[in-house]
Amino acid sequence: MSTQSLLERRFRVLGKHSPLFYDKPLQLVRGEGVWLYDAEGKRYLDAYNNVPHVGHCHPRVVDALCRQAHALNTHTRYLDDTVVTYAERLLSTFDKSLSNVFFCCTGTEANELALRIARECTGGQGIISTAHAYHGNSAAVAQISTLFTPPEKRGPFIRTIPVLDPYRERRGRDDETLSTAYAQDVQKAVDDFARNGVKFAGLLICTAFSSEGLPTVPRGYLAKVVKIVHDAGGVFIADEVQAGFGRFGSHMWGHQVLGATPDIVTMGKPMGNGHPLAGVVARADLVEQFTSQNMYFNTFGGNAVSAAVGLAVLDVLQEERLLENARIVGEYVIAGLRKLQTKHALIGDVRGAGLFFAVEIVRDRTTQEPAPAETKRIVNGMRERGVLISRIGIHDNILKIRPPMPFSTGNADLLLKTLDDLMTSL
Ligand SMILES: Cc1ncc(COP(=O)(O)O)c(C=O)c1O
Repeated sequence: MSTQSLLERRFRVLGKHSPLFYDKPLQLVRGEGVWLYDAEGKRYLDAYNNVPHVGHCHPRVVDALCRQAHALNTHTRYLDDTVVTYAERLLSTFDKSLSNVFFCCTGTEANELALRIARECTGGQGIISTAHAYHGNSAAVAQISTLFTPPEKRGPFIRTIPVLDPYRERRGRDDETLSTAYAQDVQKAVDDFARNGVKFAGLLICTAFSSEGLPTVPRGYLAKVVKIVHDAGGVFIADEVQAGFGRFGSHMWGHQVLGATPDIVTMGKPMGNGHPLAGVVARADLVEQFTSQNMYFNTFGGNAVSAAVGLAVLDVLQEERLLENARIVGEYVIAGLRKLQTKHALIGDVRGAGLFFAVEIVRDRTTQEPAPAETKRIVNGMRERGVLISRIGIHDNILKIRPPMPFSTGNADLLLKTLDDLMTSL
């Protein structure tokens, strides 16, 4: 009853279109590690959220936040040791060429700033993104968030490349051939700008291609793309909002997994474990050029409390060896999902790395026809059975599984068994 009345009150004040997960929305009241608890005390395994990266309400992060909030909270126009120490620690996880950082509060702000730097430093306007991307909600960033912004609302300075779909499009091609073919899509977009007299500024992509469906990117793809972008005078912006902070286990950043170095990197969500902290890391020469012409100040970005929280997140990642955990548990989950694939015909493909998984739900494995209605039933069915996941992809037919980093093999067993039981009952 209380959840129902809260829903009605919410509709009245936030409107009916304010997005909510699940057919039966969840009212969560407490979180701890990988667990969430609803208003009736029911426990849910969180196999979806990457914002509570080191675990919901991690005591170390909460302590750091409280301690700094009790001592002092100022913005970055005063000298503060914690802010500088955090910047140094964060930058040490990148290639040496990426040596300056701006702090802000959301992934949107980070991408907005990255676009401004790219446009200022290249003198161009043209930006390439993918055809099913989400990068944020400001006016400029919404233009490249093609998932929600139709072509007629994107303006004249945006071109898109098709979503990579090796599951359907490999057709016997090896990585070298396939990556060359996919990279040609970027060349075509660059050429289209030139034909229309638009000076090219850069390419901005999520290095997990998360909203696009977490495709297995063919080896060599990103290096080829970055060469095309640089040859055309543009910069490569890596959106690490979903892929970053060790999500893939093997590396700290998605672009490192894909084997290319960006000119600008944006990050957010997991950075503050729920506290609004985001950032832009870039080449020092780009930062110098941009800031010599534009004053950038962000009142709340990188304040002393945020910096203390950010440092605590990095400490926990290291001390609890969470990248290693992501690798080990990730392989266990992939093996389990592949086993389920042999049992359930609806599972067309299983892919992922570290603690980020995609399960393609198809009507028929031969035709690979997407099964969005079944996917929706699975996501809602899992929620009913106490496991939280979501769905992604152009056809809305891909289960998105991306738990907090302390996810254990025991948690994985529960996820796999619940999915197995549910799919058996469909
Ligand atoms: C890849 C990616 N970039 C940027 C954003 C925007 O981040 P925020 O919601 O913090 O503005 C999101 C949010 O979902 C995202 O997934």
